[in-house]
Amino acid sequence: MSASDTVTPVLTIDGPGGAGKGTISGLLAERLGWHLLDSGALYRLTAYAAGKHDVVLDDEAGLAHVAANLDVAFPVADGAVQTLLEGEDVSRAIRTEQAGERASKVAALPAVRDALLKRQRDFEQSPGLVADGRDMGTVVFPGAGLKVFLTASAEERARRRHAQLQQAGVDANLSSLLKEIQARDARDTQRSVAPLKPADDAITLDTTRLSIPEVVEQLTEWLSLRGMASGA
Ligand code: C5P
Repeated sequence: MSASDTVTPVLTIDGPGGAGKGTISGLLAERLGWHLLDSGALYRLTAYAAGKHDVVLDDEAGLAHVAANLDVAFPVADGAVQTLLEGEDVSRAIRTEQAGERASKVAALPAVRDALLKRQRDFEQSPGLVADGRDMGTVVFPGAGLKVFLTASAEERARRRHAQLQQAGVDANLSSLLKEIQARDARDTQRSVAPLKPADDAITLDTTRLSIPEVVEQLTEWLSLRGMASGA
């Protein structure tokens, strides 16, 4: 095989909110020394930037313009990735349930998804990429070497979100979190463009009863079996 035949290994991790994609993707990217694409952050940032620039959530062309011109940076400070939008630290602001809700509304608009496509594909760089989202395996990286669809019951996902928020010192109500998760699942799976669903060639892993290290081990084993992570 010549150098020009070398392809960048890509692992896609799709699934509903709260299934553990973010945590697992971050741990695997760190372990493998690969790049990380948190595609949900781009939708969250688009919705946040729209608010900042008074673009309403049903102005598809306006939102696509915001998405195409996002001025973002992800510097690492004290071991944690920061999210800067136009120089402002929005790391916490884009993680609220309300920001997720607004993100899922802008994410249902085809022009917004189109505007973010190239930016996402640009993350495919040596030595490898872990891509976290809803349509990584189906739309953005259809040729990925390993596609995983992570799920967990809605109740377990609500419990995890609740624990995360409590840890961050944010007050949250478990039953309203469950309702929000179910509403977001419905919107993500029923939209006409890039709906949340496993790629035909994805492996589905239900994490309801699995710990984070167990999931990381399972994915590492699958990567090794495909010859994608010899050093992992
Ligand atoms: O993963 P996260 O919760 O940050 O994503 C926020 C929202 O962005 C999701 O509910 C979904 O509607 C949207 N999204 C998407 N496609 C992706 C990633 C996120 O539609 N690849």
